[in-house]
Amino acid sequence: MIYLDNGATTFPKPECVYEATDRFAREAAVNAGRGAYRAARAATDMIKEVKTELLSMCDARGQAEVALTPSVTIALNQIIQGQRWKEGVTAYITPYEHNAVLRPLKLMEQKHHIQVMELPLKEDLSIDLDGVREAFAACPPDFVAVTAISNVTGYVLPAAEVFAEAKQYGAFTVLDAAQAMGLLRMRFAQLKADCIAFAGHKTLYAPFGVAGFLIKNGVDLDVVLAGGNGIRSEDPNMPKFMPEKMECASMDSVAICGLRTSLNWLKGVDPWKIETELIEYLLARLPEVKDLTIYKAPPGAQQAGVVSVNLEGFRANEVAAILDAKNDIAVRAGHHCAGLIHHHLNNKKYDGTIRISLGVFNTREDIDALIDALKGIDRDALKGIDANILRGNC
Ligand code: ALA
Repeated sequence: MIYLDNGATTFPKPECVYEATDRFAREAAVNAGRGAYRAARAATDMIKEVKTELLSMCDARGQAEVALTPSVTIALNQIIQGQRWKEGVTAYITPYEHNAVLRPLKLMEQKHHIQVMELPLKEDLSIDLDGVREAFAACPPDFVAVTAISNVTGYVLPAAEVFAEAKQYGAFTVLDAAQAMGLLRMRFAQLKADCIAFAGHKTLYAPFGVAGFLIKNGVDLDVVLAGGNGIRSEDPNMPKFMPEKMECASMDSVAICGLRTSLNWLKGVDPWKIETELIEYLLARLPEVKDLTIYKAPPGAQQAGVVSVNLEGFRANEVAAILDAKNDIAVRAGHHCAGLIHHHLNNKKYDGTIRISLGVFNTREDIDALIDALKGIDRDALKGIDANILRGNC
């Protein structure tokens, strides 16, 4: 398989991650934070070490804490549902947000009668910073969430600029770095984010099962999920201090071991350089394919290793199904859990986009194979593919 779906999860993981998690699962995967025996203490120490590494990665030591969660969607739910919402407050998002941000905010809209507003885009689909200033002046923000990188077009959004504006109104700021942690250089203080949410299994090259968020010192959230975490077990209430009040349930120590290993591995790799070279090559070759529409970062903006396309005459899912069936190429098709941006991409007739998302293990040969495959697609290629697969719905 030629895997071009690294936006969904990076695959494969570095060999050292497989080796470390296999060994840890066999020899040391006990429950962290619950026992006083050596193996449990070692698992607890490993978690502390991972948190310190994550803080260092964002230059945030001494400025923030880390809460670990089983997935970034859960992290974002804790951040969003943990706000003290009041009726009528205004939450801004960008049209590039993922459902992990949009859907919890929509829940809050229904539950607390907040208003959720979209930040404006320019014609080239970049964030309109003048428009953002005007929107904030007209309706001051209480909460602002920005995704660091679009999982549809690879656009690196101007999060720091938006947050700098938002902070003039004292808004709570959240960076969704699910597609960016480990890939983009982030400096916590400069970003002016109260929280940065991350996923272990994407650009951090760890297994599924570990994610979380950095939260600025002194910033508090309400508890959304309660349960055991090994701290003051005699108390029926969750601890009142961060980040422990956000952590309950047994942690996936095998996944955390994987994250510890991948964080260490990332110190010797430059994923941004690798992805940039690959995406430039891909963007140079894509115009060779006839009748192809390309959805990439706006001119002048940084482009991560993700791009979407559509082929005239085909629904996005049909092309993905052909690439899979005939060429053993894995790409994601549809709306990519980021529905809002597709209105701006004006791609209704294609039912979303075909997304090509690169990782450090991709090669130019993978891209050559994709280009050849796209050039070879015709309606006959649809014959023999299951109708349900062709329909798709994602
Ligand atoms: N959010 C992941 C993606 O973009 C699953 O595919």
